[in-house]
Amino acid sequence: MNTTEIQALKGKQRIVMLTAYDYQIARILDRVNIDMILVGDSLGMVFQGNPDTKQVTMDAMVYHTHAVARGAKNTIIVADMPIHSYDTPDQALANAKQLCEAGAHAVKIEGHQPEVIKILLKEDIPVMGHVGLLPQYAEKFRVQGKTPEQADQIWRDALAMDKLGVFAMVLECIPEWLARKITHDVKSPTIGIGAGKYCDGQVLVITELLGMTSNDHLPKFVKQYSSLNIIIGEAVTEFMEEVREGKYPTKKHTYH
Ligand code: KIV
Repeated sequence: MNTTEIQALKGKQRIVMLTAYDYQIARILDRVNIDMILVGDSLGMVFQGNPDTKQVTMDAMVYHTHAVARGAKNTIIVADMPIHSYDTPDQALANAKQLCEAGAHAVKIEGHQPEVIKILLKEDIPVMGHVGLLPQYAEKFRVQGKTPEQADQIWRDALAMDKLGVFAMVLECIPEWLARKITHDVKSPTIGIGAGKYCDGQVLVITELLGMTSNDHLPKFVKQYSSLNIIIGEAVTEFMEEVREGKYPTKKHTYH
């Protein structure tokens, strides 16, 4: 599939996107035929352990995009442009080219940045928009668009980006009614995260979906489909016990 085919899915088939930051997870997502992989700058939090995405650099994004691209040969890879990598259109273009050289087929930018979107599209780099909660700029992670003024601004930004030609857009943490209205009013597919069920598709952060993270501070919209933090803890505990008791390695695991 390419980005044009993703656009054509609007109204026909719900689109599924997940984040990946490494080769192994990318291979699995590719094998199960996910529609798109996002090398999200959420890696700043769930991979690097920072409190937000504000520390993520271009070098980190290029590194993780390379790793994902080695694992996912048949899936569209969208790479996030990290904070300050698109402060000017020229800078955005140079950095987007680096991400594409690393294996991305499209880039995602936060907020309505008309000049940046225009220059990237002019150079045939597909752009995914992102409105609602913008983690690179937000002071606090909370629902956006609760006041009529805020909701109107988000709606306007979404429509303007759509008009410029983004191939899809993420709607993050906005009320369901607003996501529904945007989804109805734009021609590009909307991919929701914390935006309810009326979006054209959904995205989640893979480590949260897999239950790698502790569930103390999980946002309301996250559903954990596994409990990998428990499964990994159990496997490691069993290994520790067997080493300490002299049960591992056995003959089977030994060269003679
Ligand atoms: O960085 C990320 O993972 C994202 C998703 C939350 C959409 O932008």
